Amino acid sequence: MAKREEWGSRVGFILAAIGSAIGLGNIWRFPYTVAENGGGAFLIPYFIALITAGIPLLILEFGLGHKMRTSAPGVFGRLNAKWQKLGWWQTMIAFAIAVYYMAIIAWTLRYVLFSFNLSWGEDTKSFFYSFLHLSDSPFDLGGLHLDLLVPLLAIWAVNFIVLALGVKKGIEKANKVFMPILFISIVIITIRGLTLPGAFDGLNYFFKPDFSKILDGRVWVAAYGQIFYSLSICFGIMLAYSSYLPKKSDIVNNAFITAFGNCSFSLLSGIAVFSILGNMAFNNGQAVADVADGGVGLAFVVFPAAINGLPNFNHIFGVLFFVSLFFAGVSSSISIIETTISAVSDKFNIKRIKSLAIICGFGFIISTIFATGAGLYVLDIADHFLNNYGVAVAGLIETILVGWFFNLKSIREYVNPISDFAVGNWWQVSIKVITPLLLGIMTVFKIIEDIQKPYEGYSFASLMTYGVGVIIMTVVVGLIISSFKGSSSFESSLKKRSEK
Ligand code: ALA
Repeated sequence: MAKREEWGSRVGFILAAIGSAIGLGNIWRFPYTVAENGGGAFLIPYFIALITAGIPLLILEFGLGHKMRTSAPGVFGRLNAKWQKLGWWQTMIAFAIAVYYMAIIAWTLRYVLFSFNLSWGEDTKSFFYSFLHLSDSPFDLGGLHLDLLVPLLAIWAVNFIVLALGVKKGIEKANKVFMPILFISIVIITIRGLTLPGAFDGLNYFFKPDFSKILDGRVWVAAYGQIFYSLSICFGIMLAYSSYLPKKSDIVNNAFITAFGNCSFSLLSGIAVFSILGNMAFNNGQAVADVADGGVGLAFVVFPAAINGLPNFNHIFGVLFFVSLFFAGVSSSISIIETTISAVSDKFNIKRIKSLAIICGFGFIISTIFATGAGLYVLDIADHFLNNYGVAVAGLIETILVGWFFNLKSIREYVNPISDFAVGNWWQVSIKVITPLLLGIMTVFKIIEDIQKPYEGYSFASLMTYGVGVIIMTVVVGLIISSFKGSSSFESSLKKRSEK
């Protein structure tokens, strides 16, 4: 088997890990989640989630990937041969996320172009819906729309090219360019935002603590959910990335840097978004709460409207905002695809370029659903289910298996001597008790909530098809692939159980 590729430098790895973590989730999910869940008070559960689950799991995944030097199926398979299934399930979740993630990045690309002449006009919502050729219901697909299909193909091609160049020449180099552009763009947007009239009303809405919310379980669920998705943990990504670390590498400090880098970026995006929304509310004589929105609505409907209202350089700020979303998105999407290619290549010992072609080919075909009139509905439902029942449940299983059925202490003993500083007992308590407990509660909460009130009022059939159906597909395909016999090197590596 060819020698495993390695990152060229520590900075290269950290930038790639931060690039994976900082994604669409930071810019469009975080600000609104904060505002909706108690403002400044949300930051308490958020930082508790970061310390008790985010950082411990990052250390766990960095440590396991580095030690085993293979992707999720191989890592879990070496802990216990039966657990290879979990690795494949996580890989399939990553693949499913990649498929819809590409569609959003494709939209941001189009919106970069729209920004040049503010083509969305005054009624940004109608513009967005007609841009998407939005149909009346999730099953009303209509045909494929070329204007959506072509950018989608372009995004898959961008990912393909970066990944075909390999870990060091592709992913690492790309992140060394993408991350500074992203950072500079968001700083410029923040400075502009803060100097606008009404900015402080926006920030007040964003940060003002509503401490009564801290007692609400849903706020904690939101905090843990945000941390998992945002740090790209429990869907194989960080295992794959750390499998390319050279033998002599720090683990613990890298995990702290990645986590704090990601969270600081989230806070910065929150300040940027809410200062500009504050300005929009000011211009319209509305309350900030009335203009705020999250997710797709924030990025493609509210933000274009806010850009319209800026006193000057509207086009430039439109370009900067969508360019930021684009780079945040692509640096994450390449990590998500890398997870699947490394899993396939590691198991079947096939050339990277071959698995890349197969995965991008399949991925593109499946993602054509987002070039139909029902794309937005499918995306919204799939995203909700993959986050709440895919990533969270895979994380729950991961922490139960590794915490309770494996010698967890051995991983701590492995990472501590090679790291800049050591983790104490608290790390084991987090993985073994706190994280599974919270993930378990979170999942039960979500199930109850989804049963009481169908997500966003979608029909039962559509939730079953694009939500539950997608989750079932990830499980079934994961089980099928894990049942295939791998290459002899993969199968024999599984026999090298790793307790030490
Ligand atoms: N971590 C990536 C994000 O936040 C997936 O979007």
